[in-house]
Amino acid sequence: MNIFVTGGAGFIGANFIFYMLREHPDYRIVCLDKLTYAGNLSTLEPVMQNDHFRFEKIDICDREAVFQLFEEEKPDVTVNFAAESHVDRSIEDPEVFLRTNILGTQVLMDACRKYGIKRFHQVSTDEVYGDLPLDRPDLFFTEQTPLHASSPYSASKASADMIVMAYHRTYGLPVTVSRCSNNYGPYQFPEKLIPLMIANALADKPLPVYGDGLNVRDWLYVEDHCRAIDLIIHNGQVGEVYNVGGHNEMSNISIVKLICRELDKPESLIKYVTDRKGHDRRYAIDPQKIHSELGWLPETKFEDGIKETVRWYLNNRQWWETIVSGEYRNYYEKMYGNK
Ligand code: NAD
Ligand code: DAU
Repeated sequence: MNIFVTGGAGFIGANFIFYMLREHPDYRIVCLDKLTYAGNLSTLEPVMQNDHFRFEKIDICDREAVFQLFEEEKPDVTVNFAAESHVDRSIEDPEVFLRTNILGTQVLMDACRKYGIKRFHQVSTDEVYGDLPLDRPDLFFTEQTPLHASSPYSASKASADMIVMAYHRTYGLPVTVSRCSNNYGPYQFPEKLIPLMIANALADKPLPVYGDGLNVRDWLYVEDHCRAIDLIIHNGQVGEVYNVGGHNEMSNISIVKLICRELDKPESLIKYVTDRKGHDRRYAIDPQKIHSELGWLPETKFEDGIKETVRWYLNNRQWWETIVSGEYRNYYEKMYGNK
């Protein structure tokens, strides 16, 4: 099996590549990544020499380059992680979100149509459903919940989901979609809540909590997400959407306080700052469908996953310090500039 993984130099894509090479050592994995500010090729260094792995620096919006790679490799499956993924950046500058997340997805699906892919899997997000009120803990997102995106980021992901389903219905493209809740774990870019708070706390810098800090996210350890996608591409039904989440709802402020405790740092570092525009209040996934159809359940408890994650950031300071300093951006040129 030859699997194309787009966005594999980012957080979840890289974890997925490690997971797949470990779980399916006979598969070939080809990673396409534009290496935007969020892509860090040094993350993939441990697999760069693996005979079953190939990396290509490609923008998924670049039709010619994408089609050329499909022509060469004739993949069986494409898993699309490539995206602009940070809500705050989408509020500042939406355009690239629409280009990559919508038009890039279309380019990939056009290539999949031409080269007769067996499966196109779109990695989507629970944010496409909008948000839930804090005072209705009985409500959860199911696959039937109407799309109701709040930010330019989530609207671009919802648009992509609709185009993916349209390519299935109109052209018969064999697609699946997963909508996962917030991931955490190793290699997450330190602009997202958990790694940002760990990095700032270690530097004794303020910990900026938006608004009242009571917004709720449903946290899932990244490897549980990877396993869900692996199950969906092998056993999921074509044309279906699968929600992925671990029933692990926590307020932002409780996460930040937990990180302070884990790192033995004072809560006085916490600083309440202006709220995010249009800030979604609560996300909560009902994962019943993927559980009953594919037998998926999260394996990592939050108490263990967060300890493991804090330990990872402590033991891999160089990985995130080169990001914070901006040095990681020279890595590709240094290693591959002349190749
Ligand atoms: P990330 O920002 O860490 O990584 C994104 C990767 O995509 C980077 O390597 C970047 O270089 C690459 N990329 C961006 N634009 C590209 C383009 N035009 N062409 C090729 N590559 C491009 O994101 P992540 O957190 O790993 O998220 C991966 C996917 O999962 C996204 O589609 C996101 O919407 C979805 N998702 C994320 C979460 C989460 O909690 N992080 C939860 C649910 C779904
Ligand atoms: O729900 C899935 C989504 O989770 C993914 O689709 C997105 O790609 C991913 O970035 C993530 O989006 P969020 O906006 O939920 O994640 P973020 O880490 O940016 O923020 C989590 C919560 O923490 C959110 O309520 C905003 C808050 N926050 C965030 C930052 C960066 C703060 O209070 N302070 C901060 O400095």
